[in-house]
Amino acid sequence: MSTSPSQRSRVTVGLAERSYDILIGTGLIDDARTFAELPRAAAALIVTNETIAPLYAARLKASLSPHYPSVEVLVLPDGEIHKDWTTLNRVFDVLLEGNFDRKTVLFALGGGVIGDLTGFAAACFMRGVPFVQVPTTLLAQVDSSVGGKTAINHPHGKNMIGAFYQPRRVVADLGSLTTLPPREIAAGLAEVIKYGPIADDAFFCWLEEHLDDRSTCSPLRWSMPCDARARSRPKWSATTNARAADEPY
Ligand SMILES: NC(=O)c1ccc[n+]([C@@H]2O[C@H](COP(=O)([O-])OP(=O)(O)OC[C@H]3O[C@@H](n4cnc5c(N)ncnc54)[C@H](O)[C@@H]3O)[C@@H](O)[C@H]2O)c1
Repeated sequence: MSTSPSQRSRVTVGLAERSYDILIGTGLIDDARTFAELPRAAAALIVTNETIAPLYAARLKASLSPHYPSVEVLVLPDGEIHKDWTTLNRVFDVLLEGNFDRKTVLFALGGGVIGDLTGFAAACFMRGVPFVQVPTTLLAQVDSSVGGKTAINHPHGKNMIGAFYQPRRVVADLGSLTTLPPREIAAGLAEVIKYGPIADDAFFCWLEEHLDDRSTCSPLRWSMPCDARARSRPKWSATTNARAADEPY
């Protein structure tokens, strides 16, 4: 399966009242329709980091502006070392000092570090506000943004303080992978390679055939792993309903 830039997929994670959609495709961050049908609120807060903000924050803000009267951006330091209490408190400081209310929607724009930390902030602020995952690494798109595991690290262990808290939507814009350093593509790929033997022989064969292309091919090729992962992830595949591959939204 190859993927043209115009192809988009929507996969529904069926979890009764906590069900949500995963949107996969290109151009999603720049398309205001991507963010329709989300909870309404007076304000949205984009949480991102200093590496990702210059690339995508203004674009996401422009797409959210038709839906939220106020859209703020919080730029955190980059790195796993900052997935901690101090950085989490910066999110709460901004929310409380800015008088954000209990309907506020948080948008996690970044890799797994931003996704995990923002998700946990959303789980805690005012006992829980809606949040949306906008994953920008391959690992986050195929793994960490889905499943509702949120956390920060503690000196005694990684991901030791956290909560299970589902996002309202996951927006995997494959275009964001074009700026991802090769090392981060490789890190996500290591996760992707596991899926074939676990869930899908044909997918495993596809990977074997295309793995060496990755230095010469656009990361858009990895839309297939994202899509396959969304459809086959063992921990929620039984409740996942894949809709038409190029359904507009
Ligand atoms: N919640 C879960 O189920 C789950 C599962 C697996 C991993 N995780 C967590 O995910 C984290 C690792 O996530 P990760 O691998 O995405 O690392 P990361 O979030 O640190 O991102 C890697 C680097 O890539 C940069 N980056 C992100 N998107 C970019 C883009 N589009 N262009 C250029 N640079 C970009 C980041 O700023 C960072 O420097 C760990 O904290 C791990 O515990 C969570």
